Amino acid sequence: MPQAVRIAPSLLAADFSRLGEELRAIDAAGADYVHLDVMDGSFVPNLSFGIPVIKSLRPLTKKPFDTHLMVNKPDHLFPAFAGAGADIISVHPEAVDDLPTSLAAIRKLGCRAGVAFNPDTPLSLLPAGLENVDLILVMTVQAGFGGQTFMPLFDKIREARALINQCGRAIDLEVDGGINAENAPMVIDAGADVLVAGTYIFHDDYATNIQSLKGH
Ligand code: DX5
Ligand code: ZN
Repeated sequence: MPQAVRIAPSLLAADFSRLGEELRAIDAAGADYVHLDVMDGSFVPNLSFGIPVIKSLRPLTKKPFDTHLMVNKPDHLFPAFAGAGADIISVHPEAVDDLPTSLAAIRKLGCRAGVAFNPDTPLSLLPAGLENVDLILVMTVQAGFGGQTFMPLFDKIREARALINQCGRAIDLEVDGGINAENAPMVIDAGADVLVAGTYIFHDDYATNIQSLKGH
């Protein structure tokens, strides 16, 4: 069964010149997780921010840091991300040599392990029995840029929900990319229980926008 809906604002859409203030503002506005999009200019064409920035933000909030690594071969960096304060570390299956090994390594550091799926990447790449999986991230845009248009991948979200229900553990089903108040009810209805949103939340009143994604 889905858990209560939680909202993970993506700091990618924040004003980087005031990142600390922006983080405090989404915390006060009711964010459940803080979504941190780390881009390496190789797995995705874009660059964003990395370990030193995450470390400097960590003292400003107690909210879980949901770290989405769009990074090729990131395994050697897991200890540094954990040390910087990441609570959840998600990797893309195509970016790692061996997904089960990566997930076990993330768990061993005391973090929750996530698997992120680009629109064309099939959920069949998940490990059998969802071993060491704490979060499935279904991307509704191609990873790499904020502000893209939502792709209606409801069948894929439903498929992920069915796999999680079958497994019986409380695994988060997070959907990321182009989420707004219009599509959020359908995304939740398909089985998502964590919604990432950047552009939509950061465009005006953060608290109102976060609440509107939860359906009130
Ligand atoms: C895209 C990122 C998303 C994105 C969300 O690569 O993973 O988290 O920034 O931003 P919006 O809500 O603007 O699509
Ligand atoms: Zn993301």
